Amino acid sequence: MPLELTANPLLRERTTLRLGGPAVVEAVVREAADLDELSAFLTRETLPPFVLGAGSNLLAGDGPLELALVRVADCPGPERVERDGEAIIVRCGAGLRLPGLLGWAQRAGFSGLEGMTGIPGTVGGAVAMNAGSYGVEIGDLVTRVRIWSPTGGLAWLDRGQCVFDYRHFTPAGTPGKCLIWEVELSLRESDPKGVRRAMRDVYEKKKANQPVTARTAGCVFKNPPADSAGRLLDKAGLKGVRLGHMAFSDKHANFLVNLGGGKAADALELMDMGRRRVLEQFGITLEPEVIV
Ligand code: EPU
Repeated sequence: MPLELTANPLLRERTTLRLGGPAVVEAVVREAADLDELSAFLTRETLPPFVLGAGSNLLAGDGPLELALVRVADCPGPERVERDGEAIIVRCGAGLRLPGLLGWAQRAGFSGLEGMTGIPGTVGGAVAMNAGSYGVEIGDLVTRVRIWSPTGGLAWLDRGQCVFDYRHFTPAGTPGKCLIWEVELSLRESDPKGVRRAMRDVYEKKKANQPVTARTAGCVFKNPPADSAGRLLDKAGLKGVRLGHMAFSDKHANFLVNLGGGKAADALELMDMGRRRVLEQFGITLEPEVIV
């Protein structure tokens, strides 16, 4: 199937926060054979490319946005499963959604990912930002990552060539930007009921502390060393503060919620307000986690 191109793709239809105006074009890559066409597309295209996953960690501007979006198409499930001693090595396409992977792992009785219950991103997006919650960062489970770049083509990087930091992934020795194409993760054999119980426990904790059913992009700021951005924003009085149709969640102050018809400009102003107040009151500079 040829590279699928869409003109004027709306970011608000592609992000969980439901914000963002039109980009110029979107290219969806379905299979490895499309990558040559992607290379030609990126050579033709003068606009900066922006790789999009499930848009679950993204605050996109109201636009128009001078960007060429690149997305790996959704894939239905893991591509390959192998046993390596005690470990279960699972290979997934970058477009696989984390909830789909977690559901599959639960049914197969494979443990390791339970802490990531409720994260709506793609596997590629999760690796690109080393997503994590409840004691699990995806980087801890990665054994290899297959990346693609127009100059280097497809290449597997071993674990030792990947640097995973807090909400950050650097493929060592890769000049320029690249696309995550496939990921290999190491899971452990367990039993489906135990995995389901652990996932349910995480979901219950999340539901009690985070606005899990609202339109959000997850936490908007990274946690400063040994502290919580949510705690600081809460102490600084930001919980529930609203501007237009955007608000800091009244459940957890580090989430911005789109109450319906919100604007990115209001979200950015709220983030500025939060950053300013936390700096004034605690002398701590918050760094955004969502890409803006
Ligand atoms: N807290 C408050 N008020 C708030 C929010 C939190 O006082 O409005 C307090 C809590 O009571 C707790 C402490 O702050 O004592 C930490 O809160 P929580 O356990 O909710 O964790 P967090 O540090 O706010 C981090 C991650 C989340 C992840 C949770 C659970 C970041 C920025 N946040 O939140 O990740 O789900 O731990 O593991 O790293 C994300 O990255 O998008 C994200 C949501």
